[in-house]
Amino acid sequence: MERFSVTTPIYYVNDVPHLGTAYTTIVADALRRFHCLRGDETFMLTGTDEHGLKIQRQAKEQGSDPKAFTDKISERFKEAWPKLDIVANRFVRTTDVDHEAFVIELWEKIEANGDLYEGEYEGWYCVGCESLKTDKELESGLCPLHKTSAERVKEKSYFFRLEKWQKVLLDFYARHPHFIQPESRRNEVVSFVESGLRDLSVSRTSFTWGIPVPGNPKHVMYVWFDALANYLSVLGQGSLVRFWPPNGKVVHLVGKDILRFHAVYWPAFLLSAGYTEKQIPQTVFAHGFLTIDGQKMGKALRNAVDPLKIARELGSDTLRYHLLRAIAFGQDGDFDHAALIERYNADLGKNLGNLLSRVLGLCQKVTGGKVPVQGARTALEEELFRSVVTNLTLARNGWESIEPHRALEATFAISSAANTYVDRAAPWASTPERAHTALATLLDVLAVLSVAIWPAMPNKSDAMRAQLGLPPIKPELGVDLFPTDIVGPFLMAGAPLRPAGPLFPTFDKDRTRDILETLIPKTVLVDTESGAKKAEADAKAESAENQFLGFDDFAKIDLRVGLVKAAEKVPKKDKLLRLTVDLGEPLPRTIVAGLALTFAPADLVGRKVLVVANLAPREFGSADFGAGKEKLVSQGMLLASGPSENLKLATIDGAALPGAKLK
Ligand code: ME8
Ligand code: MG
Repeated sequence: MERFSVTTPIYYVNDVPHLGTAYTTIVADALRRFHCLRGDETFMLTGTDEHGLKIQRQAKEQGSDPKAFTDKISERFKEAWPKLDIVANRFVRTTDVDHEAFVIELWEKIEANGDLYEGEYEGWYCVGCESLKTDKELESGLCPLHKTSAERVKEKSYFFRLEKWQKVLLDFYARHPHFIQPESRRNEVVSFVESGLRDLSVSRTSFTWGIPVPGNPKHVMYVWFDALANYLSVLGQGSLVRFWPPNGKVVHLVGKDILRFHAVYWPAFLLSAGYTEKQIPQTVFAHGFLTIDGQKMGKALRNAVDPLKIARELGSDTLRYHLLRAIAFGQDGDFDHAALIERYNADLGKNLGNLLSRVLGLCQKVTGGKVPVQGARTALEEELFRSVVTNLTLARNGWESIEPHRALEATFAISSAANTYVDRAAPWASTPERAHTALATLLDVLAVLSVAIWPAMPNKSDAMRAQLGLPPIKPELGVDLFPTDIVGPFLMAGAPLRPAGPLFPTFDKDRTRDILETLIPKTVLVDTESGAKKAEADAKAESAENQFLGFDDFAKIDLRVGLVKAAEKVPKKDKLLRLTVDLGEPLPRTIVAGLALTFAPADLVGRKVLVVANLAPREFGSADFGAGKEKLVSQGMLLASGPSENLKLATIDGAALPGAKLK
């Protein structure tokens, strides 16, 4: 038994949970469950990151006080995870009193050790990253991750002597080759540190939403200083200190976008505060991005998928399995709803589900639904047995080495081997004794599988076990339940089986189409040309009545700055482009505008546009983008001037943020 804790990043409350944030959190929960199965004492930590400029601004835009705002969004995260069967032991908020008190202590320790000094910094800052950027890191002034312009900042600040820790960090990486995983990411971090570290600005004076610097409350702490400390403010304190190294093993799961903070700043802060090398978490594992059509999924690009909707429609196990199995942990993976259903049908329905129903169906015929007695094993059973043992070892190693995709690949290889075995052993055509042995063997394999899938699919594990007449899995400290072979007894000969229909009913074409229609956000389209005509007619009628528009009427028009995130041609409509436009809302708007005679789609991506945001939705027929006909409904209107072939877009100068109101 060991003590194992796993952490997720604490998520910014500028966004609600989406598939990207759910991904890390699901992997963390699956690892936690695997370690529970091993009999380990486990702890899972997740939470929300609530301070900083990004959150202060977002709250302000919503006309909300930052605390009320963070309370509201943090709750969304807290509520979401259980719906995905994620069980965290603590949900930490950086506005929690115990966290804030701890961060102040940490600051004081680092200060007492001489690693903080006052200065001034000047440079580019990406509010999305909450991080300074060097010129080299920007792409024509834009943050490559958030595609927004960096802001010039110049202000008084405390600095952390990061440079001083360069050599110590490099030695540490060399002595702990598994601290940063996967290997390729480790090499990146090592060369980054080798190329030289600059002292890190760790406080701000130009806004107030943060933890005040002790003794100098004009400053608030840099949000990353505050955020990283969450791991220690929870796990390093009181009785939970038993989970902190060297007493326990701590694994930080992070997206590759935030590896540097965890692999460079975080150990430096710990060492500076007087922790020893042995008290640094064992592993920071950086995974890749979930993408949609190759673009990182998330708030910045407004292409996020709602995991709760998928879970409602298909069950949380299906989503968990797909994310864990389809994406090699560490690499990017493109998310596609259709692929999710295909994998469900193939791996879950036709492989595992089918195995269960075949075996239970045969038992019904051969023994009247009772667990048969196992006789002598033949070469056929030996072969299956070897495959099971090999794959269980691979599965176990996959979980241990934080490679859930490998663990599940091996797990499902067992199911495939068992299906092949059914065909070869042909219990329907053999002697009763052989049939009994074959079915008893298969039931043992199913029992083993019901345990091995538990980290990924806890509900289906329960349901499967119920059909086998077994109780749900109950992990116990110090008891290793992860199977290593199929030598039972898992089931008692003579015990009743309880078949209950398909565990994973497969979806045919029609049903798949229905599901996809429900899951894929209905695209709302605008034909601005017809919209404009109607608006013109309305305006004429209006102006005939009243030549002037009162200010109140003008104020009713919600004009906003939009940022074009994506653009494409509408099939069979020469003039139309479909745009995805960020208006600073939780979801982007899809606007189809009559721009195609002037602009190629690529010309528009990244441009700021002006949008009438509160025009009533209008429907303008339909178009087929390759997934069947979709209704074209208006969700806003772009402002432009000129003839169709030579349009000029109304735009705004400077660094206006998407969603900013025009007044
Ligand atoms: O960075 N694919 O918070 P955040 C995969 N508050 N994972 C994704 C993803 C995607 N498309 N989008 C987001 C922060 N994630 C800081 C962390 S920790 C001390 C402070 C996941 O809300 C991924 O784990 O921007 C990424 O690292 C995390 O969400 C960032 O969430
Ligand atoms: Mg982020």
